[in-house]
Amino acid sequence: MSVCARCHGSDILMGSTDIYRIYEPGRSREGRTNDLSAYFQQTPLEPGRTFPTVEVWEDGEPKGIGMLFRSMIDSRCYQEAEVRCFDCHNPHDNKQPAEPGILQASSVSDQYCTGCHEDMESDAMTASHTHHKTGEPGSFCYDCHMPKTLTKLATGVLETTRTHKMSSIPSPANTIRFGMDGSPNACTLCHSDETALWSADYMLEWYGEIAV
Ligand code: HEC
Ligand code: HEC
Ligand code: HEC
Ligand code: HEC
Ligand code: HEC
Repeated sequence: MSVCARCHGSDILMGSTDIYRIYEPGRSREGRTNDLSAYFQQTPLEPGRTFPTVEVWEDGEPKGIGMLFRSMIDSRCYQEAEVRCFDCHNPHDNKQPAEPGILQASSVSDQYCTGCHEDMESDAMTASHTHHKTGEPGSFCYDCHMPKTLTKLATGVLETTRTHKMSSIPSPANTIRFGMDGSPNACTLCHSDETALWSADYMLEWYGEIAV
C-alpha cells in the first residue's frame, strides 16, 4: 500500500514533500521507514475544496482523481479488513486487472465483495438487497457502492472514474441538500431523468432508512 501511496496518495505529497521525495520502496538502504500508512489519511477533507486533482465534494467526499487512494483508505472495508490495491489491479502492469472481469461491474467483481460480505452471496439474497434484476445494470455491487464520482481532467475533457470508497452508500439526502453538482449519488447518476427525491422515496421503501 505504501508503494502505491507514494505516487497515488496525494495526502502524502500535500502533507510532506520530504517523505514523498526520499521514499524508497522495499528495503531502504539507509534504514528509512518504508511504511507510509501513518500519512494515508493526513489531509482534512474540506467540503468544497477546489484545489486541482484533490477537490472535495460539498458533502466532504473525495472528488478529484488525486483523492482516489484516500477514498479507499476512508472505506470501512479497508479500515476493518484487508482490502488491497493488488486485489483488483496487476501491480506489475497497471492497465491490467488482477483477475479478468474484476475491473467491470460483473459477477467477478461481485464475488470479490461477497468474499467478505457472505450474506449477500446467493442471487436471491443479492436481488433482495439490490432490488434490480440480477445480472443487469443496477444489480452489481460497484453500481451503487463504487459509483463514478471521481473526476479527472487529464485529457482536458472532464471524465469520471469509480470512487474507491467501496463502503459508500448512495445519499439522495445529500443530493437534495447540495445538488448533483455538489453531491452526486449513484441512483441518479444512472437514472439521470429522475430526481434525488425519487431515489429517496425508493430507498425508504426498499431499505426503510436513507443515509444522510
Ligand atoms: C512511481 C509512481 C507510481 C507508483 C509507485 C505507482 N503508480 Fe500507478 N500510476 C502512476 C502514473 C503516473 C499513472 C498514470 C499513467 C499511466 O496510466 O501509466 C498511473 C496509473 C495507474 C493506474 C491506471 C492505469 C490505467 O488503466 O490507465 C492504476 C490502476 C495504477 N496506476 C495502480 C497502481 C498500483 C496498484 C500501484 C501500487 C502497486 C501503483 N499504481 C504505483 C504512477 C505510479
Ligand atoms: C475492488 C477492486 C479495486 C480495488 C481494491 C482498487 N481498485 Fe482501482 N479501480 C477499480 C475499478 C473498477 C476501476 C475503474 C476501471 C474502469 O472503469 O475501467 C479502477 C480504476 C483505477 C485507476 C484509474 C483511474 C482513472 O480512470 O484514471 C487507478 C489509478 C486506480 N484504480 C488505482 C488504484 C489504487 C492505487 C488502489 C489501491 C489504493 C486501487 N485502485 C484499488 C477497482 C479497484
Ligand atoms: C476483505 C474484506 C472486505 C472486502 C473484500 C469488501 N469489504 Fe465491505 N466491509 C468489510 C468490513 C469488515 C466492513 C465493516 C463491517 C460491516 O459493515 O460488515 C465493511 C463494510 C462495508 C459496507 C457498510 C458500510 C456502512 O457504513 O455500513 C458496505 C456498503 C461495503 N462494505 C461494501 C463493499 C463492497 C461493495 C465491496 C466490493 C467492492 C466490499 N465491501 C468489499 C470488509 C470487506
Ligand atoms: C441498487 C443499489 C445497490 C446495489 C447494487 C448494492 N447495494 Fe449494498 N446497499 C445499498 C444501500 C442503499 C444500502 C444502505 C441501506 C441498507 O443498509 O440496507 C446498502 C448497504 C450495504 C451494506 C451495509 C448494510 C448491510 O446490509 O450489511 C453492505 C455490506 C452492502 N450494501 C454490500 C453490497 C454488496 C456486497 C453488493 C453486491 C452484491 C451490494 N451491496 C449491491 C444499495 C445497493
Ligand atoms: C448502474 C446503473 C444503475 C444504478 C446505479 C441504479 N439503477 Fe435503478 N435501474 C437501472 C436499470 C438499467 C433499470 C431497469 C431499466 C429501467 O426500468 O429503467 C433500473 C430500474 C430501477 C427501477 C424500476 C424502474 C423504474 O424506473 O421505475 C427503480 C425504481 C430504480 N431502478 C431505482 C434505483 C435506485 C433507488 C437506485 C439507487 C439506490 C438505483 N436504481 C441505482 C440502472 C441503475
